[in-house]
Amino acid sequence: MNVLLIGSGGREHAIALALRRSKLLERLYVAPGNPGTARIGENVEINVADHAAVIDFCRKAAIALVVVGPEQPLIGGLVDTLETHGVPAFGPTRAAARLEGSKGFTKDLCRDYDIPTARYARFSAAEPALRYLREHGAPIVVKADGLAAGKGVVVATTLDEAERAVQAMFDGAFGLSGAEVVIEECLEGEEASFFAICDGVRALPFATAQDHKRVGDGDTGPNTGGMGAYSPASVVTPDIEARVMAEIVEPTVRAMHEKDAPFKGVLYAGLMLTKDGPKLIEYNCRFGDPETQVMLPRLEDDLLELMLAASRGALPRERPRFAPLAALTVVLAAKNYPGTPIVGSEIRNVQRAEAVEGVVITHAGTREDGGRLLAAGGRVLNVTALGESVAEAQARAYAAVDLIDWPGGFCRRDIGWREVARETTGRG
Ligand code: AMP
Ligand code: GLY
Repeated sequence: MNVLLIGSGGREHAIALALRRSKLLERLYVAPGNPGTARIGENVEINVADHAAVIDFCRKAAIALVVVGPEQPLIGGLVDTLETHGVPAFGPTRAAARLEGSKGFTKDLCRDYDIPTARYARFSAAEPALRYLREHGAPIVVKADGLAAGKGVVVATTLDEAERAVQAMFDGAFGLSGAEVVIEECLEGEEASFFAICDGVRALPFATAQDHKRVGDGDTGPNTGGMGAYSPASVVTPDIEARVMAEIVEPTVRAMHEKDAPFKGVLYAGLMLTKDGPKLIEYNCRFGDPETQVMLPRLEDDLLELMLAASRGALPRERPRFAPLAALTVVLAAKNYPGTPIVGSEIRNVQRAEAVEGVVITHAGTREDGGRLLAAGGRVLNVTALGESVAEAQARAYAAVDLIDWPGGFCRRDIGWREVARETTGRG
């Protein structure tokens, strides 16, 4: 069958590689794709926001499944349009994607269904929000309600910082996304990313990972889209996984079904593992980037089969199987990221790095220009390695990173540090 994959990041290149392993796949189209996906599929120039153009392409190319990578098209209702026109899709409808698109919606759902999360309040004006801050004090977390490209969250350590965040959001720092603000209790613990595949009625645990959101070594500096990840995250023990499914994921799937917004696709729970158990920080309605790059290379089952089953509301009984290996991804970013990245610099020796045993490189913000590979975005390449342990995967990934010649880029040197420390002390 023919598949259309929407997106252009490292996540989509990793999804494309996994789809390629499926016996069911004939032609793979990626819109818009990147130089990495061009090697294993056909990149197509469609304006994804133009739903009529997507439908038109699906008809002409006999597309049997559309897989939506990023959140914007989901929140924009692309899956609704596809379903209306009888084109199967993997991903939630606009109403179900509110789990990511509106933090206030998700917090209210947690309250109504007893899902463990940080205590919170919602505000649509600055004055009451500021009063609430003064009553509760710091540390406290201030969030713009809607999508803000990962920048709408301020974990304030002082009251002053929290007040400034509230002011900035109501002054329009995030446009309409900040027209409503959620203020919540600051949770303490270790974070983990938990992924489940849902078919509208049921959810299967997929895999876990740990992201590294800060730009600098030792988790310092501003937040980014993610500078690296490893999988599995051993902090999510089988016990914790059972609690996450029973206390967080399953009640959410039930709730969305009751709200006539059944959730199909990937439910990505950002968790805080607190001393009182796992709590939901936030939901995303899609695969994570770079978490996908460390989960899919370990997947032993057929991803396309799984996505089709989810889109048809008929997930298998058994959870997907993964190789008993660790995977680790180091993100290479253009200088000045997460500020405006300096693009256009040349990247050399990627092929040498790809030749390292157990290493796969996926593209994100790259561009080809007459045989040269150039940086064309913030996060540019993902160097992923498999190993028997996270430490081994880490050593291989950095050995490959060190073969790449790119003076215009940088990466963190400590991806996986928590897990490597646990492995070294024999815990976890
Ligand atoms: P988000 O953009 O919603 O993923 O949030 C970015 C980061 O802010 C999360 O990964 C956490 O590190 C942090 N964060 C969000 N909410 C809380 C909370 N209630 N308590 C502590 N940290 C939080
Ligand atoms: N890695 C974080 C995200 O995909 O949202």
